[in-house]
Amino acid sequence: MKLGLNLSFAIKRWLGGEAMARIVKEELGFDTVQFTWDLVDPWWPTDQRDPIAREYAEVFRNAGITIESTFGGLASYTYNHLLAPTPELRALGKEHLKRAIDMTSQMGVKAAGMPFGSFSTADANNPARREKIYKEAVAAYLDLTRHAKARGLERLYVEPVPLATEFPSSATDALRLMTDLNAESAVPVRLMVDWGHALFTPLFGDEADMDYWMETCGDYIGAFHIQQSDGLLDRHWNFTHDGVITPERLSEFWKRNKLTDQTYFLEIIYPFEETDEDVLADMKASVALLRQAV
Ligand SMILES: [Fe+2]
Ligand SMILES: [Fe+2]
Repeated sequence: MKLGLNLSFAIKRWLGGEAMARIVKEELGFDTVQFTWDLVDPWWPTDQRDPIAREYAEVFRNAGITIESTFGGLASYTYNHLLAPTPELRALGKEHLKRAIDMTSQMGVKAAGMPFGSFSTADANNPARREKIYKEAVAAYLDLTRHAKARGLERLYVEPVPLATEFPSSATDALRLMTDLNAESAVPVRLMVDWGHALFTPLFGDEADMDYWMETCGDYIGAFHIQQSDGLLDRHWNFTHDGVITPERLSEFWKRNKLTDQTYFLEIIYPFEETDEDVLADMKASVALLRQAV
């Protein structure tokens, strides 16, 4: 299986290209990463933001590390973005992704992504409002695919999330969005399917099953987030934890589906109060378990 490393595990700990490249390459042995916007905020003023983002990209390139995509992290996920309740908030959500595309372009990276958006509670419970806001969001996203193409990006990603108040959550939601977007998008839009989201039993029940996801929307899955979970909350634990997603299960799925380039990005989120030493030791132990299963 093709393993990559989402940099969420490192936020607030190892900052700047040199420190991060050393952890990624020398300590953990990765040469493919997904860069999280929790390291460089797309909303920072461009003049200051872009040199910081480019420094990561340049140091990584010189170290032989490929940034396959940039991706929204915890900070970005806090907001409702394209499915927010008011036109002003939705416009800000569109601007957020536009700025992230610009930052990604400055880094020389060819793909970017994030979840699509979150409805307010009132809208989530109102089918007519959901549909109206969804249609507007698709139109806004299509604009952004044109912007991405103009900035030299080759792909955008949407990550389904395990909440009924957000979209897409289920595999059928994800298929609908992919069909609607790819009919007119300027660059291909693909799914970043997170194993811990797809296997969220309280929402999906019997459909919390990766084979079901592959059957339903597998043609649109461009890459995966992998993490350990108990299936009861979205844990983002490492594989040193017991849970429902074992390295053996990931490997068996990869081989049986004859996957080739749909990178498994290890997306681990630690409590901020965990020590740096413990985080690094736990990352090393987990990566060793994954490599044994490859
Ligand atoms: Fe994820
Ligand atoms: Fe998650």
